[in-house]
Amino acid sequence: MWTLQNNFCNLIKKTVPTFKCMFPHYNKARYGQYIKTFPILDGSIPSVCEHVFEKNLRNSEACIQRYSELLYKVSKGGGENAILRHTQRNKKLLVRERLRMLLDDESFLELSPFAGFDLPYGDVPAAGCLTGIGKICGVWCVFMANDATVKGGTIYPISVKKQLRAQHIAIQNRLLSVYLVDSGGAFLPLQAELFPDQSHGGRIFYNEAIMSAMKIPQVAVVCGSCTAGGAYVPTMAEETVIVDKIGTMFLAGPPLVKAATGEDISPEDLGGATLHSKVSGCIDHFASSEEAAYECVRNIILTLNYELPQEETLEYDEPLYGAEELLGLAPQGYRYTLPLKLILSRLIDGSRFQEFKAEYGTTLVTGFAHMEGHLVGIVANNGELTHDASLKGSHFVQLCSQRSIPILFLQNTAPHAAEPTSLSQAENHTNRLKAQASMMAAIACAAVPKITLVIGGSYGNESYAMCGRSFDPNFLFLWPNARVALVDSRHISTFPQAGDDDCIGDDSELKFLKEKLDQESSAFYSSARLWDDGIILPQNSRKVIAQCLTIMKQQKYQIKSLQQYWGGLKELAGARPRKRSKEREQHKAHAAHARFVCLLLKKTPICGAGTTRHQQWSTHRDTHSEEPPLLHKESHQEGLTKYCL
Ligand code: COA
Repeated sequence: MWTLQNNFCNLIKKTVPTFKCMFPHYNKARYGQYIKTFPILDGSIPSVCEHVFEKNLRNSEACIQRYSELLYKVSKGGGENAILRHTQRNKKLLVRERLRMLLDDESFLELSPFAGFDLPYGDVPAAGCLTGIGKICGVWCVFMANDATVKGGTIYPISVKKQLRAQHIAIQNRLLSVYLVDSGGAFLPLQAELFPDQSHGGRIFYNEAIMSAMKIPQVAVVCGSCTAGGAYVPTMAEETVIVDKIGTMFLAGPPLVKAATGEDISPEDLGGATLHSKVSGCIDHFASSEEAAYECVRNIILTLNYELPQEETLEYDEPLYGAEELLGLAPQGYRYTLPLKLILSRLIDGSRFQEFKAEYGTTLVTGFAHMEGHLVGIVANNGELTHDASLKGSHFVQLCSQRSIPILFLQNTAPHAAEPTSLSQAENHTNRLKAQASMMAAIACAAVPKITLVIGGSYGNESYAMCGRSFDPNFLFLWPNARVALVDSRHISTFPQAGDDDCIGDDSELKFLKEKLDQESSAFYSSARLWDDGIILPQNSRKVIAQCLTIMKQQKYQIKSLQQYWGGLKELAGARPRKRSKEREQHKAHAAHARFVCLLLKKTPICGAGTTRHQQWSTHRDTHSEEPPLLHKESHQEGLTKYCL
């Protein structure tokens, strides 16, 4: 894609005189730069819409109230006692303090803070693990940081899902990953939902290896107790730092050693910073304090050899209409939807929009705009996704893909399609189905970054055609008023009556089902289950989208080009395993395991302090005649998605 664009630019350079005559703005604006000639949208709210605006506003305020309450609850982690235990007794920093030390500034993008809220197995604040994207030494990184105030940082099923999602974002956007590990391993009462399946805990370690092979760096800090599963995360990382007196790492802690061998051993002696730095070699950097550990991570990042350009200061105008008014435009239901361009005019630079196919398939709005200076293609629902609207969407998505322009989907899909009442209507429905399928195919195959923002409803089939979660957008956010469900409970007016052939229950049962559907459609229910990357406030949307667009651009400047990324693992298929890194991973796992076995059996360690890594590897090789392959051979041929969850 980039080559195509470069060829186009070269062609332009050669034909500049002609080109200048054809395009008078060529002198004023670089390709992709914020252009002030796009038409301005009229964003004034018609007086006839005021009552709808008022209703939406009241609904948004209620949703935001709930949002703030939940955010406050989440910020308290595991509660007062757990915080005291963590800070006073265990002498550790709270997870947000750690991030403050690690990141360049506080303007990081936190992902899914409501994950783990009100699940069948209880509340797990922030899924016991903070994830997000922030800058370290100017480089955007994905971070995954356990919150040990939540049940000792143990991993619940939702914590696994959250970490896998963060890793997927790291893979898709080629962002280096930093793990702050402070975890007691699996939350044992739920072990069956954590351990055996493909997308369970082990997948986190698998992804670390795959990312490393894709040259996406993996860095870890052991800043607490890392037991069992928690111990593999730093062991699989490329470079690991441990904090003295605070970080420990073992497959089973002192209580288990005591039970197995009767030996009393302190955590420090079993798997502390000194042991892992000097004896097992599982750790690469010893830090005397947490502060020193995060400083060390910053130094590691400086050795990554990234060629980032000077910070780009993009020129842009603010929208001409106030973002606060988005609260009155965020629909409380599909029937309360106001014209989409009113929302658009409050999101895009200078409220300027270069619309595409303005008169055709008008229930979908498509066109180009800028978000804080970034050129973006916009696909937005403005009614039902009809046959014409879907064809238009499909055309526009392909256009963006061809021009390497990221796409923003503003999703507010219709809760149900009208039932056909005649043969011709049924034929229309079939045609619409075909057109929607074409749009889905265009989206699935568009090799450009995509962001989906659900501004109203995310209902049924149309949500797929608007780049729902299963269509793998790089980021998917919801407004607090959003509803996510197959159908909208409020649009179900009739139920089968008792005595009907298809009757599925009495009135009270059906009422109960309707209430259940209603509750399960809320944005908070969705976000708690990680069906999205978080709820964002309407008035912050512009900032968040612009930040995502900046983050997604970084992959252009890394050691590997974007094209190689899309070529993906084809390149790896022919490659020999990276012996040095494999050696280290094998060695680390082997050494950790050996150490644990030795302690249990009270034998002299095989990998003692005097043994070099090379010798250890030779020992390992002697007992394993074949080198384990870095990637499974058949997986190589199947492309990138095979490795993403
Ligand atoms: N599964 C379920 N709950 C666990 C747990 C686990 N693996 N590990 C700890 N917890 C719970 C504790 O029961 C306690 O719950 P409470 O607050 O309701 O009393 C809470 O997490 C904090 O544990 P506590 O031991 O009081 O805190 P700590 O800071 O002193 O120690 C650990 C934290 C994780 C180091 C320690 O609890 C530990 O070693 N746990 C065992 C880890 C283990 O063996 N994991 C094996 C996984 S396969």
